[in-house]
Amino acid sequence: MIVAANWKMNPSFDTAGRLATVLDACSFNPVRRILFIPHPYLMPISERLGQSEIQLGGQDCHQDAAGAHTGDVSAAMLRDCGASIVLLGHSERRANHGEASSLIAAKARQAVAHGLDVLICLGETLGERHAGQAEQVVIDQLRMSVPDDMPQDKLMIAYEPVWAIGTGKVASLDDIAAMHDTITSELPKSQVGAAAARTPVLYGGSVNAENAAAIFALGNVHGGLVGGASLDAEAFGSICDSARAQMSKS
Ligand code: 13P
Repeated sequence: MIVAANWKMNPSFDTAGRLATVLDACSFNPVRRILFIPHPYLMPISERLGQSEIQLGGQDCHQDAAGAHTGDVSAAMLRDCGASIVLLGHSERRANHGEASSLIAAKARQAVAHGLDVLICLGETLGERHAGQAEQVVIDQLRMSVPDDMPQDKLMIAYEPVWAIGTGKVASLDDIAAMHDTITSELPKSQVGAAAARTPVLYGGSVNAENAAAIFALGNVHGGLVGGASLDAEAFGSICDSARAQMSKS
């Protein structure tokens, strides 16, 4: 089980430091915890956490190793500032920055080349779901966003229906289970090696302390990618506890 926080462009530096310290003080073993934090905070929070079990991640990286890309951040810079993973293809980047799946695949290649793990987000809009296209949209995103030569042990996927992000509307348990089945069955075709079934597939979209246990109890859900609730240490701790409880059952 993996519980990942996506802080987006939210916490102040003070709040971020306090959140990281509180979360580090709780032991949630064996739940793997990841914080995707604003890039300027990576180095100071990494220093603050020291040898913590919490993994730090960037929220994006550039597809080139280096160059004239004002305002962008390279995979190597993230790694040098304490990140071991990067979040790619979040729907906010796909929508607000026009990122296509082919670009996300290029970023993933660059991230892996610099020793980072990669969490790639997929998800349909409400219009696509209403039009009966949700599954095809997600399959297409998966096939085009994951590089053909992606090492299996470097990859994680998050299914985040766009209409469930920040809205308080969670996908139904049936819809989550169905989409996670689809993603899991599509993974082997988009990856090298026979071990693709082990790629963790997280759910994201209005996960909170109340609904996490039911979502994590679904067989093919391997954790959550949490936005709003990850800014509240108590709520995030409770979500991690639900993941731990689920692990002790299975
Ligand atoms: P919320 O949990 O606020 O819906 O955000 C989900 C998300 O976008 C995580 O990447």
